[in-house]
Amino acid sequence: MTAAPASTLLTGISELWTLDPALDDPALGDPALGGTARAASDGQIIRDAALVIEDGRVAWTGPAAQAPDADAREDLGGRAVLPGWVDSHSHLIFDGDRSAEFEARMAGEAYAAGGIQVTTDATRAAADERLLELVTARARAAAAGGTTCLETKTGYGLTVAEEQRAARLAARLVADGVLDEVTFLGAHLVPAEFDGQDGRPGAAEYVDLVAGEMLEAVAPHVRWIDVFCETGAFTPEQSARVLRAGAAAGLGLRVHGNQLGESGGVALACELGAASVDHVNFLAASDVDALAATAERPVQQDGSGRWGDGRLAVDAGPTVATVLPACDLSTRAPLAPARRLLNAGAQIAIASNCNPGTSYTSSMSFCVGTAVLQMRLSLAEAIRAATRGGALALRRADAGHLGVGARADLHVLDTPHAIDLAYRPGMPLTHRVLRAGERVA
Ligand code: NIG
Repeated sequence: MTAAPASTLLTGISELWTLDPALDDPALGDPALGGTARAASDGQIIRDAALVIEDGRVAWTGPAAQAPDADAREDLGGRAVLPGWVDSHSHLIFDGDRSAEFEARMAGEAYAAGGIQVTTDATRAAADERLLELVTARARAAAAGGTTCLETKTGYGLTVAEEQRAARLAARLVADGVLDEVTFLGAHLVPAEFDGQDGRPGAAEYVDLVAGEMLEAVAPHVRWIDVFCETGAFTPEQSARVLRAGAAAGLGLRVHGNQLGESGGVALACELGAASVDHVNFLAASDVDALAATAERPVQQDGSGRWGDGRLAVDAGPTVATVLPACDLSTRAPLAPARRLLNAGAQIAIASNCNPGTSYTSSMSFCVGTAVLQMRLSLAEAIRAATRGGALALRRADAGHLGVGARADLHVLDTPHAIDLAYRPGMPLTHRVLRAGERVA
């Protein structure tokens, strides 16, 4: 067997988007880990560039003319290179089919959370091996589109045993390098058996279960807890109860908020110091102000040093407003006001929200193109939100950029110009994908 070269020099890079935090321009925004989501400063995009990978990490970046020697070298043929996408919001652990629901929506029906029960029924009926295969195939499809850091959630089990099973299977895929982060979403929907009818327990009892026995069973397998704070799902009070219990169990907080209306989810997320509030379609001025006010909260290092496993403390830092362009299109919702959020100084991320109900795509390139074309972000803002923004939302220092020391997660485009992501939407623009220096697509 031939040993892998200790170091590899990649040349022939037309545009290298390092988005290196060390080069953040303070004039562009905040100096927290994520830096501003607004733009890339000079030096964060290098033309005619080269990059050295060593032991799965970025060891050097700069102009090709100044590249150091390495054990091996490869010419990428004049292509643009980005950090791999960081997809901070997906729901990949499911079985079943909801294409008819989508078709009915396109014929005029509104999205309501009730479809979650349909997926829950199908997911409960799936064997472990089938779920592992389905999630792995979905994660590989995401990687084939340039995603190199991927979060996913439980939330289609909704019993103690089923939520624990989903979390355990997902944690196994994290250990295998297929996924990166797992979130407990027992508070996704009050399941049918808690409908409060005919002597059956109701929503209050379900919240007790999620915040108690279910959390205890799931917590060892996950890093995050999330709630769907929305009419038809959980009230702000119920959501707060679940999130506070999660924080007490050492989990970081995430919120599905303000998707279908001004649900109070954004205010709650900011108040409790959640790392992210996702959807954010319906925002009052006070919601935008609250998000912007969190943007300067410093991100804390965890005990593992600058890089370590890349994880930062989950209990401090900005509440990132995560916009989900594919979901907005698929539900015909008003697009989340990403431009307004950036103008106000909030931190934003772009994620796929891949799930069978509202957004059945893991294509971050599609989301980035849509953010430019429809949400009026610049290319640099959109790329940054889909890389550094997602990493900030997941409190990862090692992903979302190609600064020295970062995990060597590279998205090599099949074009010299990254602007093609918006200029040629829907075209197959991914040439190859590396995760920790290894080719995954
Ligand atoms: O993020 N909004 C809640 N959860 C998912 C949808 C889940 C479903 O409809 O199956 C979302 O859009």
